[in-house]
Parts: sequence; C-alpha cells; structure tokens
Amino acid sequence: MAEVQLRRHLALVGLMGSGKTTVGRKLAARLGRPFIDADEALAVTTGRTVRQWFDDSGEAAFRAKEVDVLAQLLASDDPSVIATGGGIVCTEAGRALLNGPDVTVVWLRASPAFVANRVAQKANKDHRPLLDADPRVVLDRHAAERNHLYAEVADLVVDVDPVHRDVEKPKKKLAEMVFEAFSQIDAEKAARDRAQLARAAADAPATAPGGSQP
Ligand code: S3P
Repeated sequence: MAEVQLRRHLALVGLMGSGKTTVGRKLAARLGRPFIDADEALAVTTGRTVRQWFDDSGEAAFRAKEVDVLAQLLASDDPSVIATGGGIVCTEAGRALLNGPDVTVVWLRASPAFVANRVAQKANKDHRPLLDADPRVVLDRHAAERNHLYAEVADLVVDVDPVHRDVEKPKKKLAEMVFEAFSQIDAEKAARDRAQLARAAADAPATAPGGSQP
C-alpha cells in the first residue's frame, strides 16, 4: 500500500497579540516550512495595508478579502504555517475554510488582560486599526465574541498566559509545544488515512488475473 502523503497546512488563530506571528515563525522553522502572515499576504496581494482596507472600504470588505486570501493560501500544495488575522473566525466563510480538510488549526488562547498589555507595548498602526480605541475594552469584547468561535475551529488549544508567566523563553516553548502536539495529530491522521485506504482496498472487487477492471 502506498504511503499516505500528508498535505496539511497549519494555521494559528487567536486574539491580536496572542503571538501568532512570532510563534508561527519559530514553528515554521522547526517544521522546515514557509511561514506566511495572512495580513501581510493580504497587503502584498492587494497593494493596500489592513488600515487602508478598513479606512477606504470598511471592515466587511476587509473580512471578505481576508477570506479570499486564506482560501488562496490553503489551496497551495506546499504545506505552510499561516498566522491568520484575529478576526478570521468572524465570518462563516472563514470558519468553513478553517474547518476544511487542508488545515490543522491551533488556537493560541490568551486572556484579554495579557494581550492588552502586550499590544500596548507595540506599534500597530498599519496593521491593527481596531486598537485605536482602548485596547483592553476592544480585546475584552473580542474575547467575549470570538473565543467560542476559535474553539469551534481549533484542533488544538494552547494556553499562552501560563507559559509567559513560568518560562524564560515563552515563544520558543510555545512553538515547541505546538510542534509536538502537531506531530502527534499528523501521526494519528496518517494512521486513520491508512486504515481507511486498507478498508477501501479490502472492500474493492478483486482484479481479474492479468487484466484490469472494466
Ligand atoms: C484583527 C486582527 C489583525 C488584523 C486586523 C483585524 C482582528 O491581525 O487582521 O487588524 O479583528 O482581530 P492580528 O491578529 O495578526 O493582529
């Protein structure tokens, strides 16, 4: 029986500031895969920053475009690590892509208090227009509105806060934790795929000797 060739992307989801990009980069290096930041891909593909999308076309248009971009990324045969924008789960189409067969989804689950503190230390001007308002208020609302949606698409959940509290190099540790869990998920999937192929082969009618099936 032929080896099952896994072609699965890995996507990170979670609130702004949960570490999708930094952890994603480290994880991609560990997996020997390209890393793609979906917001950057959107800016490159469309020639407009996230802020320009919000300012000129509105949030709904941005959401539709980010779904298009994710669909393109997931259509690639080259397995990658993708950091999605925090709001990708807000649309049904975005969630449908993340629930699809080409991608394993990891939720970097972080508390709003933790991420608000982190994003306050960074310049997010072109990338996070929603944080022009009070970041803590925005992130509290996002957590309330989105956490159940992240849970709905996630194959794996990793809690970010305790790692940052307890570990000296938290990003490296988080990447390692995801790497190990991902390897396990892939191994289980490969085993399931092999079992399914074996069942299909057992159920198929036997080929006549020296001939082929009509
Ligand atoms: C958003 C998150 C941002 C970016 C946009 C909207 C959100 O991406 O897509 O500003 O609604 O949570 P990051 O999560 O990478 O910051």
